[in-house]
Amino acid sequence: MATTTTYIPALKYNWLTKFYDFLIQAFLKERSWKSFLIHSFSNKNPQSILDIGTGTATLSIMMKKTHPQANIVGLDGDEKILAIARSKVEQQKLNIGLIKGMSYQLPFPDNHFDVITSSLMLHHLRDEDKVRTFKEVLRVLKAGGEFCIADWGKPDTVTSRLLFYWVQFLDGFETTTSNVKGLLPKFLSTSGFATVNELKKYKTIGGSISIYKTRKV
Ligand SMILES: C[S@@+](CC[C@H](N)C(=O)[O-])C[C@H]1O[C@@H](n2cnc3c(N)ncnc32)[C@H](O)[C@@H]1O
Repeated sequence: MATTTTYIPALKYNWLTKFYDFLIQAFLKERSWKSFLIHSFSNKNPQSILDIGTGTATLSIMMKKTHPQANIVGLDGDEKILAIARSKVEQQKLNIGLIKGMSYQLPFPDNHFDVITSSLMLHHLRDEDKVRTFKEVLRVLKAGGEFCIADWGKPDTVTSRLLFYWVQFLDGFETTTSNVKGLLPKFLSTSGFATVNELKKYKTIGGSISIYKTRKV
């Protein structure tokens, strides 16, 4: 199956991007599970963190406030959302690198980051691109470094499954089906990561968000 060199914008349509922060906080209560994700890092003093598909940089900003010593880089394929991210970072006078790039072609050397995060980005990728991304993440992570993920996962209830249809209608079935089938851990393992732990599931009105953690051996 074909892979892609482009990306699906945060809310599929460019004109919706300016409403992203409002909608994600209002409907998905992003701060609670993003905070859990940050506190799940085993390394309590990371020096370098990469956030792939950083969007409006909410997670990068939260990470910088939790780990001010860390060199934090947010990467996203969409220049329009990066402009929003830059204005938020400048407003708060934070030192966070924001760069345009694709998750499956990371512009960093091997063994570079202590932690890599990904929040609500993987369901924008076709399965082949998920695997390409995981291989790139593995390459740029230091040995022992962690990959911490928050993304749509396998729902526990019929209601959660049904709620996820609105995400699938918005973002498309091709990129979201493996998420809802709970296949991200399998893709991570086959890409070379160590055991994948699903730490927690958050019920939201868009379905179930899973927090996964794995590491490079
Ligand atoms: C739903 S948003 C999530 C943003 C942010 N991480 C969050 O949790 O709010 C998904 C983001 O991933 C970006 N994206 C999608 N595919 C990408 C890729 N292959 N490489 C880099 N960024 C990508 C989109 O541009 C968008 O900003």
